Amino acid sequence: MNERLTDIWQKLSDHYADHDERDITTLFERPERFERFSRSCGDLLLDFSKTNLDEETMWLLKSLAAEAGLPEKIKAMFEGDKINTTEDRAVLHTALRAPADAEIMVDGQNVVPGVQAVLDQMSRFATALRSGEHQTKGGKKFTDVVNIGIGGSDLGPVMATLALAPYHDGPACHFVSNVDGAHIHDTLKGLDPKTTLIVIASKTFTTIETMTNAKTAIKWLQEALGEDVSEHLAAVSTAQDKTEAMGIPLSRVFGFEDWVGGRYSMWGPIGLPIMIAVGPDNFRAFLAGAAAMDDHFRTAKLDDNLPALLGMIGIWHNNVCGYNSRAVLPYDQRLARLPAYLQQLDMESNGKSVTLDGEWVQRKTGPIVWGEPGTNGQHAFYQLLHQGTYVTPAEFLIAAEAHEPELAHQHTLLKANCLAQSEALMLGRSKNKAREIAAKRGFEGDKLEEMAGHLSFPGNRPSVTIAYPKLTPFVLGQIVALYEHRVFTEGAIWDINPFDQWGVELGKELALSLQPLFEGGDASSKDGSTQGLLKKLT
Ligand code: F6P
Repeated sequence: MNERLTDIWQKLSDHYADHDERDITTLFERPERFERFSRSCGDLLLDFSKTNLDEETMWLLKSLAAEAGLPEKIKAMFEGDKINTTEDRAVLHTALRAPADAEIMVDGQNVVPGVQAVLDQMSRFATALRSGEHQTKGGKKFTDVVNIGIGGSDLGPVMATLALAPYHDGPACHFVSNVDGAHIHDTLKGLDPKTTLIVIASKTFTTIETMTNAKTAIKWLQEALGEDVSEHLAAVSTAQDKTEAMGIPLSRVFGFEDWVGGRYSMWGPIGLPIMIAVGPDNFRAFLAGAAAMDDHFRTAKLDDNLPALLGMIGIWHNNVCGYNSRAVLPYDQRLARLPAYLQQLDMESNGKSVTLDGEWVQRKTGPIVWGEPGTNGQHAFYQLLHQGTYVTPAEFLIAAEAHEPELAHQHTLLKANCLAQSEALMLGRSKNKAREIAAKRGFEGDKLEEMAGHLSFPGNRPSVTIAYPKLTPFVLGQIVALYEHRVFTEGAIWDINPFDQWGVELGKELALSLQPLFEGGDASSKDGSTQGLLKKLT
């Protein structure tokens, strides 16, 4: 490893050793802590003042990012270099949201016109579907759309369609991902095949879950509509030969290139259900929000660069403080699926143990990402966040304004809860304060001391807050791109490849080998546990 880097890591860990006991609240004794430890970009404010970071830590983290080549790596990504080295691919989800007049070259060709052509094709299709111009086989308007896909071909559209519910004025959208027949059964049960469009979304068009669910859905359509159901089908894929084999007319196949990773793909045709739900203009506003964040990530210096800062804070908590998970806590019910979306984005990208050159990494890489919307989480797992023995940095998301003016008082309560949680995590409650409370509750002597133990909170638990005006399509685009580039920043510092996912292959292979064993195949080569379970489940 580069000696400068080793030196900076060492300085970070020394710095932490000198300050790990420091109370975050003492950092607020210096003037303008919030102003110095928060940054804005576009509509987003990132407050990281409630962390144990000080000027020296920030300086070391920026040195680390610079020494790890983050600025050069950002440039390489945006310029279409083949930074996904294990798959020999460029990484250009940013091209999907680039302005129409941008020029982004891959293998000597500007890819932007192609992206725009598909976007136009999607817009025409979505508009025709939403207006009723594109009709069902029986000449009716489509009422429902079922997207069949999994992972990156599901989580983004699910998350964004829910997030943008106030803008949803197109057909109802449903999502089937799990190969568990219960998922498609329960989804189709309430729908009318005569007015339902099935979108089969799969980058590779080979994923077993999606192909299996697609066959079930086609059968469901055929039972109601007869053999030819092509008018009720659309496909999104990079593999047009395979979509054709499934009988989907080319006019309803939306293609994209292999330089778009599955978990980075909702900005293009994988986002078709989002566009059908909220319309092409809102979808373009969503892209524009992400493009604004791209521009910021590409051009802002590290000191002001929101995604880079969020990444550095992640590195600090994970690698230096040793916190191995982070909780994403949107105080926004419509971001209920954001934690699940970020689990794939973050954990499939940075859940790696080797560096770009295939050597075992020297440090911990991607942390465990989890979360639920507040305030629900408060009544579930926040107990552990406040008084458990693990420290989990929390990431709060909150809008200044809701979409329901008539329920503004509820939104005020939501905001108060959000701020209360980050405050409580930081402040905690001292043993003395806990004694006072216990005394007021009538406890005395040993019992008072015992209760004081239960009523005290360690505090000093770090959190960041991302605040935005209102969850519009433009704001959502900024939030998601912020997280994408945060993942990139962390991956760049660890020198890993965030754009492949070899770790999911083995399970897929073994599932294929296990399937016949449920139909009487020879299981003798399997381990004892697997054999026992096979017996129990057959
Ligand atoms: O499980 C791995 C994975 O390849 C994800 O990266 C991807 O988003 C998902 O499967 C679905 O893949 P596809 O879009 O090719 O069906």
